[in-house]
Amino acid sequence: MKRIVHKHPLAIRWFHWINFPVLFVMIWSGLLIYWAYDPYKIQIGDYTLVSFFPDGFYKALNVPRRLAEGMAWHWVFMWLFILNGLLYVAYTFISGEWRHLVPNRHSFREAIEVTLYDFGLRKTQPPFIKYNGAQKIAYFLIMLMGIGSVLTGFAIYKPTQLSWLTTVLGGYKAARLEHFVLTLGYVFFFFIHVFQVIRAGWQNFQSMVTGFEIIEPNSPDRPLMDKPASPSEPTDTNVHPDNSSIRPSLS
Ligand code: HEM
Repeated sequence: MKRIVHKHPLAIRWFHWINFPVLFVMIWSGLLIYWAYDPYKIQIGDYTLVSFFPDGFYKALNVPRRLAEGMAWHWVFMWLFILNGLLYVAYTFISGEWRHLVPNRHSFREAIEVTLYDFGLRKTQPPFIKYNGAQKIAYFLIMLMGIGSVLTGFAIYKPTQLSWLTTVLGGYKAARLEHFVLTLGYVFFFFIHVFQVIRAGWQNFQSMVTGFEIIEPNSPDRPLMDKPASPSEPTDTNVHPDNSSIRPSLS
C-alpha cells in the first residue's frame, strides 16, 4: 500500500525556496564584481596563460563593466541571505529539525555506504530516517559554508572597520580567495544536489513543494520515517538516534 508521509515543514520549504534564487543572485552579482579585478590566473610576465574565467565566458554572460550594478545587487541580497539563513537555523533548533541535519557518529560510514550504493557497488543502502548520512553531511556543510561566506564577505567588504575579522581569516587576499572558493563550492553542491534530486524522482521533489511524500511499498530508497514497526521486520531497523522527531505517517 502506498503511504503518504509529512516530510518537510512549511517553514523549511519557504526557507529553501527563498534561499535558492537569493543565492543565485548573490553568485551572479558576485561575478559582476569579480570581473572588475579577477586575480585568479596564471601569468608569465604580462602574458596571461590561463584565466579562471576566460573573456568568452564573461562576454557570453554579459558580465563586463557592470561593477556598480553588481555591488548594488550583492549588498541588498546579502541581507536577505543572512536573514533567511538566520531564521532557517533558528527554526531548525526550535522545531528539532536540526536532528535530521546534524551528522552523528554514524553519518560518515553511512555516507560511504550510500556512495557505494549510488555507484552500484552495494546492493542495499543503510536505513535512514529523513536524510541519509551523505545528505546530512552535505546539508550541514552547506550551512557552515553559508556562515563562512558571510564572514569572509564582511572581511573583504569592510576590511578597515572589521580588520580583526580580516586578520583572523588570514588577511584581505586570503579572505577573498576563501570567499571565492566557497562560491565554487555552492556551484559544485548545486549540480550534485539537482542531479540527486532528479535521481530520487518526482515524489521526492514535490515533497519539497507540498511537504508530503508518497512512498511506494518496498521502495529501496524509502526512509524509515515511513516504516511501520511490524513483527516481520526487525525492530532495530526502526530505531534510530533521531527518532524523537519523526512525524507520524498520515495513512
Ligand atoms: C544552491 C541552491 C540550493 C541549496 C543551497 C539547497 C539546499 C538544500 C538543503 C540545505 C536541504 C535540506 C533542507 C532541510 O531539510 O532543512 C535541501 C533539500 C532539498 N532540496 Fe535543495 N538546495 C538548493 C537548490 C535546490 C534546487 C534547485 C532543487 C530542485 C531541483 C532542490 C531540491 C531539493 C529537494 C527536493 C530537497 C529535499 C530532499 C529530500 O527530501 O531528500 N534544491 N536543499
